[in-house]
Amino acid sequence: MKLVLASKNPKKLREMQEILTALGVEICSEADAGVDIEVEETGATFEENSLLKAKAVMEASGLPAIADDSGLCVDCLEGAPGVYSARYGGEELTDEQRYRLLLENMRGQLTRTAKFVSVITCCFPDGSVLTARGECPGTIAYVPMGEGGFGYDPVFFVPERKKTFAQLTAEEKNAISHRGKAIQAFREKLEEHLRK
Ligand code: IMP
Repeated sequence: MKLVLASKNPKKLREMQEILTALGVEICSEADAGVDIEVEETGATFEENSLLKAKAVMEASGLPAIADDSGLCVDCLEGAPGVYSARYGGEELTDEQRYRLLLENMRGQLTRTAKFVSVITCCFPDGSVLTARGECPGTIAYVPMGEGGFGYDPVFFVPERKKTFAQLTAEEKNAISHRGKAIQAFREKLEEHLRK
């Protein structure tokens, strides 16, 4: 079976390929499927946004399509930046300016619990839909630490590891991350779906 990944990010494509080829599923890019569309993420939840992206690419390609939507939810900010994580503070900010803005907005806050969330949705041309969610709890550090990763990684602290995501290797991060958990949960649901 062939699945189109509704993303223009080659890193996401490789990650999905690594995990899902074991099921005999071929993952191709939007470009490989001849699709070139921009989907506006207008949903209020990760579930809604990943469904919007997967459905649009499934309809444009005629093939089953998979999409993910993720972000950081901070408790003392009532779940912000949430679905706006990639645009927090404005489209023009760099990753570093974005996490520094988050630290600024949390200045003086002693309750710093947060979680990363990732939701994967797969839409099939017959109308069936599979959804999997992964979460990783942590806290927001007072200062950025580490050089690895991307986005909010330098300020996302994992208490059990006593390190931020940016201080973990890619392998260590994948083993506990929201995205790693969502992909594994999705793999199980897809396996079950393919058995039917
Ligand atoms: P998406 O590509 O629309 O799902 O946007 C997700 C946004 O959430 C990214 O641009 C990052 O700002 C943030 N994000 C999601 N996952 C991670 C992660 O693993 N580390 C750091 N930031 C992340």
